[in-house]
Amino acid sequence: MMKCCFPLRRRTLLAVILLLVVFLVLPPAGVAAPRPLASFDPQVKALLTRMTLEEKIGQMTQPDQSFLKDPADIENYFLGSVLSGGNSDPKAGNSLQAWTDLYDQLQAHSQKTRLRIPLLYGVDAVHGHNNVLGAVVFPHNIGLGCTRDAALVEEVARITAEEVRATGINWAFAPCVTVPQDERWGRTYEGFSEDPRLVRRLGAAAVRGFQGGDLADPLSVLACAKHYLGDGGTAFGSAKRPNLLDQGDTRVDEATLRRIHLPGYLSTVRAGVGSIMPSYSSWNGVKCSADKYLLTDLLKRQLGFQGFLISDYNAIDQITNDYRKCIEISINAGMDMVMVPDHYREFFTDLRDLVNDGKVPMARIDDAVTRILRVKFALGLMDTNRSLFADRGLWASFGSPAHRAVARRAVRESLVLLKNEHHALPISKHTGRLVVAGKNADDLGNQCGGWTIDWQGKSGDVTPGGTTILAAIRHAVSPSTQVTFSKDGAAAAGADLGVVVIGEKPYAEFMGDRADLALAPEDVAAVKNLKAAGIPVVVILISGRPMIINDVLDEADAFIAAWLPGTEGEGVADVLFGDYKPIGKLSHSWPRSMAQIPINRGDHPYDPLFKLGFGLSY
Ligand code: BGC
Ligand code: BGC
Repeated sequence: MMKCCFPLRRRTLLAVILLLVVFLVLPPAGVAAPRPLASFDPQVKALLTRMTLEEKIGQMTQPDQSFLKDPADIENYFLGSVLSGGNSDPKAGNSLQAWTDLYDQLQAHSQKTRLRIPLLYGVDAVHGHNNVLGAVVFPHNIGLGCTRDAALVEEVARITAEEVRATGINWAFAPCVTVPQDERWGRTYEGFSEDPRLVRRLGAAAVRGFQGGDLADPLSVLACAKHYLGDGGTAFGSAKRPNLLDQGDTRVDEATLRRIHLPGYLSTVRAGVGSIMPSYSSWNGVKCSADKYLLTDLLKRQLGFQGFLISDYNAIDQITNDYRKCIEISINAGMDMVMVPDHYREFFTDLRDLVNDGKVPMARIDDAVTRILRVKFALGLMDTNRSLFADRGLWASFGSPAHRAVARRAVRESLVLLKNEHHALPISKHTGRLVVAGKNADDLGNQCGGWTIDWQGKSGDVTPGGTTILAAIRHAVSPSTQVTFSKDGAAAAGADLGVVVIGEKPYAEFMGDRADLALAPEDVAAVKNLKAAGIPVVVILISGRPMIINDVLDEADAFIAAWLPGTEGEGVADVLFGDYKPIGKLSHSWPRSMAQIPINRGDHPYDPLFKLGFGLSY
C-alpha cells in the first residue's frame, strides 16, 4: 500500500512545486520581466573607480530642497539626490511651472560637479502628483484596494508617473505596500488592504505603472516600496507619544512578520522596484533602520533586491542619542541613501569620518553607491545624449480630461455599497427635489485627504480642476431637478430624497492616530436631521479607514463607503444615479465596535460588521 502511494505523492509534490514556480517566480503572461539592475554593473564599476570618498558619500546624501543652505551645496557636497517633503514647495509657489523650474534649476547644479552625475529628485506622489496645483488627484490606496483591479492600479500609477515627469521629477516615494492591521493608525489609507495577498498583487501593479516596461522610458519614474517592514503592524501604545501607533513597535514573531508584511515586497522586488524605504517603526524593539537582518540578510540577500534603500525622513536619528552612532549603525545595517532633510552637512562629514576611522567599511560604501548608480544608469540619467531637463511638452496632458477620466473610473470602482434598502439607489435623475447635506459634500480638500498640496492636506478648495460630490450631483441631474444644500441637514422638509456626505477631515501620518473611530456628533446630527424629514437617506462616508457607523447605519436607506476619492467627485455621481453599478469590495473588514480593533487579535472569534470582500450592487 505504502509503496504505491509514494511515487504518486512525489509527483503531486513536483507538480505543486512547478506550479508555485510558474505563479510566484515567473512574471504573469504578457508582462516582460524588467532588466535586472545588476546588469548595469560594468558601467557602474567603471564610474565607481573614478570616484573619491567624498563623491561617494554625496551620492548617499539626500537633503530636502527647502533646507538647502545654498543650491551650490549640490556641487559642494556632490549630492546624489534631493527630496521635497510633504510641505516642501518651490519658493515661487506651487504651480506646475514653479515645480518644473525648481527641478531644472537644481538638476543644472548637478552638472557643475566634476563627474556630472545627475540628481534623483524624490517626491511623495502617493495619489497622483499630489503636491502640485492642478494635478489629478486619485483615490488613496485604501480605495484602489476595493477596486481589486491590478490593470487599473497600473494605469493610475502610469498617469501619476507622467504627471510627475511633467515637472521633471524622476522618483516617487510610492507605492506604499503597508498592510494595516489596526485602523486607529493614521496611515491606514496609504495601504491597499489589510489582506497581504491583495497588497502583493496591487503593489506590483503600481510598480509596473510607475517604472513602466523600462525605467529608461522618459515617462517612467523610479518607484519606492515602503515602509519596510511591518509598519502596519505596530502595537497600540508602543509609539513615542503623542503618537499612538505610528512609528511604533511591531511585536510579532518572524513567521507572522513574513506572512502578513512581507508579500508586498516579494512582488515589488520581483517587479523590479528600484528603491525601498525602511520604516520608522521597529520590529520587536529594534528600529527597522538599524536592523541588519531585515535590511541586508532578508531583503538584499534572500529576496535578491538589487536596488537601493532610502531611509525615511530623519528616521535614522531615532536609533540612539548619538547621531554619529546612528549613521554608523544604519549604514552598516545596509542603508544606502539617507534622507537627511536639514543636517546634511553634518551627515556628510560624520560619514566621511566614520569611513576614515574604519567604523564603516569602504566595501559597504561601494555597495551603497553601486546600488544608487545602477538605478541612475537604468533611468537613462547617465546617457549624455539625453536631456536631463524637464520635458515641458508633457504639460499639455498634466491634469488633463483624459487623466481625470481614469481617476473618475477609479473613484466609481472603489465605492463600496454597504447597504441599499427600499431601492434607495440608484437615484432617479428626474427626482423633483434632492437635498444634499454633510460637511464633506462640498469640500474638495476633505474629499482628497492627507498628502494633498500640503503634507496634512486641508479642507476647502485645495487644488483647481476638481469636482466636489455636490457639484457632481448638480451636474448629473435633469434640468428640472432642484438640488439644495444644507450642511447640517436641516431644511430638508418637502424634499424627495437626501444625500448626506460625512466622515473625516484630512490628516497624515501620526497626526491621524486616533483612539476612537466614532463619527463626529455633527455627522450623526446631519443624518438624523435628514431622516427627521421623513425622506429616504443615502449616506456617503468619506474616510481613510472603516469607522464605527452603527449610529447612522440604521437611519440610512443606503450607505456607501467612498474612502478618500480625490478630485473626481463625478465618479460618485456615476454610481448614485445608476450610470454605473457599484462593484467595489471591501479592502478592510469593517468592525462593529472599537473592541474589534485591531483585527487578527486572536483572542476572540472575529465577526466583523462587514467582512473583507463585502460589497453590494444594485
Ligand atoms: C514619511 C514617508 C515619506 C517621507 C518623505 C516621511 O515622514 O513616512 O512616507 O515618503 O516622509 O516625505
Ligand atoms: C514633512 C513630511 C515628513 C514629515 C515627517 C514634515 O515636515 O513635510 O514630508 O513626512 O515632516 O515627520
